[in-house]
Amino acid sequence: MRHKILVTGGAGYIGSHTTLALLEADYDVIVLDNLSNSSKASLERVGDIAGRKPLFIEGDLRDAALVNQIFKDHPIESVLHFAALKSVEESVREPLRYFENNLFSTMTLCQAMASANVFNLVFSSSAVVYGTPSIVPIAENHPVGQTTNPYGRSKFMIEQMLTDLAHSDPRWKIAILRYFNPVGAHASGRIGEDPNGIPNNLLPYICRVAVGTLTELKIFGNDYPTIDGTGVRDYIHVLDLANGHLSALDAIRKNSGTHIWNLGTGQGHSVLEVVKAFEAISDRPIPYKIAPRRAGDVAACFANVSKAERELGWKATYTLNEMLRDAWKWQSTNPLGYK
Ligand code: NAD
Ligand code: UD1
Repeated sequence: MRHKILVTGGAGYIGSHTTLALLEADYDVIVLDNLSNSSKASLERVGDIAGRKPLFIEGDLRDAALVNQIFKDHPIESVLHFAALKSVEESVREPLRYFENNLFSTMTLCQAMASANVFNLVFSSSAVVYGTPSIVPIAENHPVGQTTNPYGRSKFMIEQMLTDLAHSDPRWKIAILRYFNPVGAHASGRIGEDPNGIPNNLLPYICRVAVGTLTELKIFGNDYPTIDGTGVRDYIHVLDLANGHLSALDAIRKNSGTHIWNLGTGQGHSVLEVVKAFEAISDRPIPYKIAPRRAGDVAACFANVSKAERELGWKATYTLNEMLRDAWKWQSTNPLGYK
């Protein structure tokens, strides 16, 4: 019988790509998503690509009765927990909504898991927990918690909560995955990133300029101490990230406790490098102007990935050009996303 996985937030950007990777690796997948930031079209397309569908349950992870019932109805062995609100900017305006959604949903999930004797959990954290890095590349033992916004603090608080939980009961096997900057899309161009409204993140913004739904990119600052003055980040292909989850799942099933891994490439690229590479790949101009620095941004943020390589046997494989090629294929074939 196939190993059955619950994927929370599986209709979203990273969750849909990981659901596909799980189906392709012969897992059975149940997705719970309230569609607050996604469309179920993503899962229909995942089903088309895989030739096998995930079971989709539309509902909210904070609904304890629903979540308990899902564990009663299905012999779930492990959970990949993606569901969260993720906009830094929105979290500054609406901190309570962010804390309520992200913390309460994780508590409800863990309570239901414990009641059902399910203890394998992979959690989506973020490099945001490192705050302003004192050194790059950033290793997992870099101090955490000096985050500058409620979204980041919600991730930090959940990391602490999960660590305490694993201390309380040795049956818990928890992976905390700190993602750097996920970009790109499945090579088919059928699933990809489809943020609501005006994107906050660089790649989706560039893609919308390229298809003409936005007119110009603002580059936030060109006076950072980096190679060309613009911010440097560790962009990672979403398919590499998805595979990292499968490796983490294999690793925790053999080891109790909490395990933290950075998922990045270890390479930094500046905003201008990304813009130039995207123009070459898409053959479209990306008009831009230099704007003031964005509050909360850091000059450079990229990962030390040696722990994941050593302990998971996982390594990112896609180049920046491949990430941009796949992001462009998705955006150019779906200029309005899933709509
Ligand atoms: P996303 O918004 O595309 O996916 C999150 C999904 O969770 C959405 O489909 C949304 O509808 C669902 N959801 C939210 N609250 C829910 C709830 N209470 N009940 C049920 N479903 C709920 O985001 P993503 O980019 O795929 O991110 C996935 C995870 O990775 C999030 O936890 C995010 O914080 C984390 N992360 C993302 C990035 C990034 O750049 N995309 C970076 C670091 C960490
Ligand atoms: C942002 C979030 C971070 C979150 C991550 C992934 C902030 C301060 N940080 O990280 O918490 O984990 O997304 O979701 O929002 N840029 C521009 N113009 C734009 C957009 C971005 O110049 O229109 C620049 C930024 O200044 C940065 C780089 O592009 O140097 C990458 O930005 P972005 O994609 O938003 O990611 P992060 O800032 O790394």
